[in-house]
Amino acid sequence: MILPIVAYGDPVLKKEAEELDEDFPNLKGFIDDMFETMYAASGVGLAAPQIGKSIRIFIVDGTAFAEDEDEEGNADPRAAGMENFKKVFINPIIEEESGEKWGFNEGCLSIPTIREEVFRKEKIVVSYFDENWTLKEEAFEGYKARIIQHEYDHIDGVLFTDHLSPLKKRLLNKKLQNISKGDVKADYKMKFPAKKKQR
Ligand code: NI
Repeated sequence: MILPIVAYGDPVLKKEAEELDEDFPNLKGFIDDMFETMYAASGVGLAAPQIGKSIRIFIVDGTAFAEDEDEEGNADPRAAGMENFKKVFINPIIEEESGEKWGFNEGCLSIPTIREEVFRKEKIVVSYFDENWTLKEEAFEGYKARIIQHEYDHIDGVLFTDHLSPLKKRLLNKKLQNISKGDVKADYKMKFPAKKKQR
């Protein structure tokens, strides 16, 4: 089932989400809905708060990045291995972040039409449960690390716009308020916190 994606301004996006336990009802169905919702919006990651659930789970599928090339037409090393980067992260913990910070123009399904450069460290180690409640610990870098860092922020109530300078954020303020009101074009189903009721 495709669920509406919650837009910027909804309090659920600013809340620190709660851990899941193993008796979470119909986890498989919930995960299926998350993937269906993400694909319908052409996203590469989706966190539960974005569909209004304040719980610590996110999904990723980086297949869309796998074909990325740099300016010279060479395969982008940061996109290495993306073709089978489809995962579910439950109760994840970023254990370690290392390497140089690098900038990337991030977007977010909850903040349509806005993209801004965000700086993050290049490597992470993350522990998490997969969809079968198997505990894993893995290292990621490049775009994989980037997507995980962005989605992980969501379950801590942090948006990419929170990483911008106060000046940049102020320049975006009007656009962000418009998004909350539903005054934005998105080609997927959304729920806007400040939208006036239709009469
Ligand atoms: Ni996002």
